Order: sequence, then structure tokens, then C-alpha cells
Amino acid sequence: MARKSAKRSIKLPHVVIGVCGSIAAFKVCNVLTHLRGKVNVTIAMTPSATQFIGPQTFLALTGNQVVTDLWAPTHVKPRHIDLADELDLLLIAPATANILAKAALGIADEPVSTLLVSSLPTEKPILFAPAMNTRMWLNPATVANVTTLRKRGYHFVDPTEGDLACGWQGQGRLAEPEVIAHKVLALLKLDD
Ligand SMILES: Cc1cc2nc3c(=O)[nH]c(=O)nc-3n(C[C@H](O)[C@H](O)[C@H](O)COP(=O)(O)O)c2cc1C
Repeated sequence: MARKSAKRSIKLPHVVIGVCGSIAAFKVCNVLTHLRGKVNVTIAMTPSATQFIGPQTFLALTGNQVVTDLWAPTHVKPRHIDLADELDLLLIAPATANILAKAALGIADEPVSTLLVSSLPTEKPILFAPAMNTRMWLNPATVANVTTLRKRGYHFVDPTEGDLACGWQGQGRLAEPEVIAHKVLALLKLDD
């Protein structure tokens, strides 16, 4: 029996995960399980995301400070700019209808959308894993926003069909955490 050291001796690729306000936010914990030991993860959360899961959980699971506030007086340089510089891949999971709309328009008004606007899909892979009610996913505004983002080079792990937490059955379920982790590793050209 031994306590594992929290210090990492090898420099692992840095993945930033932007967590949004969806009932599926807890599933990011399982994505982290599949990425453990392969990448270093920092979590950024929208204010809505913190209604679904506490930042303390992500702090414990990643060993890195969780970004929940653009205005935290803890860093000399803006944290979103530093993170955008450092990251090797940005994953938005679960991606809400709202964050897709903001990303398509370039709105930057909380940590996750600000990080998105501070990152270019032509420089580093940016991957969305949407989760939402079927009507939200099929809403013409969401369809148009997803089409725009795909054309701009953003990557997607599409939601699957199944039972949704809102009581619906249809497309909108967050892709399985294993599938999301697999896509992350594939985009980083790392073996699973
Ligand atoms: C219980 C509950 C579950 C929700 N689940 C989702 C969801 O899965 N997908 C989604 O797009 N919005 C969902 N919403 C709505 C979003 O939380 C809401 O649009 C919010 O403004 C999103 O903020 P964010 O994109 O900044 O995280 C849910 C709201 C509630 C109250």
C-alpha cells in the first residue's frame, strides 16, 4: 500500500474542459476517469454548471485549480488568456444550447465562453460534446449554430438517442464518457 504522489514528473498534454449547466455535468467525472494518467486537466465552469456539480469535486479529481470566476484576484495575467495559451485541446462538455449560441456569436461573458473566444479552432482542437433536450437540439437556432461552428473547424461528439433526464426519449443524451475521452485522445494523436 502506498500513497501516490500528486506531482507529475512527465509533462502531459494539457486539456481544458469547459463544463456548462446541464444535468449531464456529473458525467465529466467519468470522462476524467478515462483520461487519467494520459493528460493533465484543468476545469473551467459556467455559473450555471456550478448549480449541478461543485468545483471542489473537480479540484479533487484533477489536482488543478478550477476556474469559476473571471474576476478572481489570484493571477496577475488574465487566467483565460494564460489557459488559452497553455492548452493543447479545449473540450466543452456538456455543451449547452446556450454555449453553442454564444460560441457561434463570439460572446464572452463568463469563464467558459471567454476561454472559447480566446482560443482559435485553427490553432488547437476545440471539441464540443453537446447535451440537451431533443427540442433544444433540433431547434433551428441550435442547428444553425452547430452548422456554423462545424464550418469554422470546431469538432463535435454528437449527442446520442436515448432516455433523457427531462423525461423525453430522443436525441440529446451526452455521448458516453468513454467515447468523448477517446475522441480527445484521438485529436491529441495519443493512443487509447
Ligand atoms: C435541471 C436543468 C437541467 C438543464 N439541462 C440542460 C441541458 O442538458 N442542456 C442545455 O442546453 N440546457 C440545460 N438546461 C438549461 C441551462 O442550464 C440554461 O440554458 C443555462 O442558462 C445554461 O448556461 P451555460 O450555458 O452558461 O452553462 C437545464 C436547466 C435546468 C434547470
